[in-house]
Amino acid sequence: MDGLEILDRAERLGRHSDSSEHYTRTFLTPAHRAAAAQLADWMREAGMAVRTDAVGNVIGRYEGASEGARTLVMGSHFDSVRNGGKYDGVLGILVPIACVHELNSRGERLEVAIEVVGFSDEEGARFSTSFLSSRALVGRFDSSVVGNQDADGVTLARAMRDAGLDPDEIRSAALDPATLAGFVELHIEQGPVLLDAGEALGVVTAIASGIRYLVRVKGEAGHAGTVPMARRRDALAAAAEMVLAVEKQCAAVDSAVGTVGILKVKDGTGNVIPGEVEFTVDIRAPDDARRHEAEDAVVKQLERVAKRRGVDMEVVRGPHDVAGVPCAPWLQERLAESISRCVGHEAPRLPSGAGHDAMMLANVTDVAMMFVRCGAGGVSHNPAETVTSEDAGLAAAALLDFLRNFEPRA
Ligand code: HGY
Ligand code: MN
Ligand code: MN
Repeated sequence: MDGLEILDRAERLGRHSDSSEHYTRTFLTPAHRAAAAQLADWMREAGMAVRTDAVGNVIGRYEGASEGARTLVMGSHFDSVRNGGKYDGVLGILVPIACVHELNSRGERLEVAIEVVGFSDEEGARFSTSFLSSRALVGRFDSSVVGNQDADGVTLARAMRDAGLDPDEIRSAALDPATLAGFVELHIEQGPVLLDAGEALGVVTAIASGIRYLVRVKGEAGHAGTVPMARRRDALAAAAEMVLAVEKQCAAVDSAVGTVGILKVKDGTGNVIPGEVEFTVDIRAPDDARRHEAEDAVVKQLERVAKRRGVDMEVVRGPHDVAGVPCAPWLQERLAESISRCVGHEAPRLPSGAGHDAMMLANVTDVAMMFVRCGAGGVSHNPAETVTSEDAGLAAAALLDFLRNFEPRA
């Protein structure tokens, strides 16, 4: 299967969206379930036996040459952020399916079995979860989230039941680590490094450490026309200063990044001084030390702002709190060898600032990632996200070479 067919499938899958205006596909919506069915069809067409696990992961299995062979797991997620790009996650499912399709069409069987996983919820956009489906796959699902509600007040548990899934059965999704030979995730880079270097493919060295907070600020609601400025405890003005503090404090720590992605004013009304505001904070850095340094600086500064402005502040850490993950050197080497056989020169190595399901799989097996160049300046989590069919085709060739030369570690 060439890159054009792979991108055509991404295009078709992208039409399964929660919104008619843009591409948004969140956990267990009708669009999400239609996309799951489409992936299952493509996996079957490629010669795989398909199952859906207790959290809606779509898993295609291609048996190895011998009974009892260990399993090399690949895959990525098919949920998205709001108004996102249609290759984030999805390319990492479609390319491995194309590789198995090629092996199957030639009757090739490997030393290992292959499982391609379409992870059902990585972004967590609908229920504010984090790596929900890969946590379940590695037996680390946090059952406290089943009560989380979406914007319409639907709980995660209800959405699962409506989709024919049993929240009490989630534990059954866990893979047996002893059966695994490793996990390899192909993903778009979501940054400009490969683009700037003129490289189509790269090998990931490590995945950034990250934490998310929810910050609640309580001041005093009041009449916009009658409360003198000096007597206000304006929760939104305080939050605005805090948002800038996140930006400033993170910019001051080497390679750390800080983002406020959601800010809500409770009962916001044009002629009312905001009494209560909540906002999210996402802080990351290439390693845990710099991530904690940025976190500490941010929280200290938020506390100073709250004190000076006389507002109350509550900082809720998590549930997204993931340590940085190094990619297994031996798997990096194998990927780098395959890429260089395909592109004719040494494969670039680069860290991942984005989080990936591989971070959860690293709890139970060795992991590695292959990045594919992004166009449009490397933008992602944005509808302008783009990949060329040549690069998609190269990625499939390199991953197929990796599979054909893969020897499981004892
Ligand atoms: O936030 C991330 O890095 C990923 O897109 N979930
Ligand atoms: Mn993403
Ligand atoms: Mn992703």
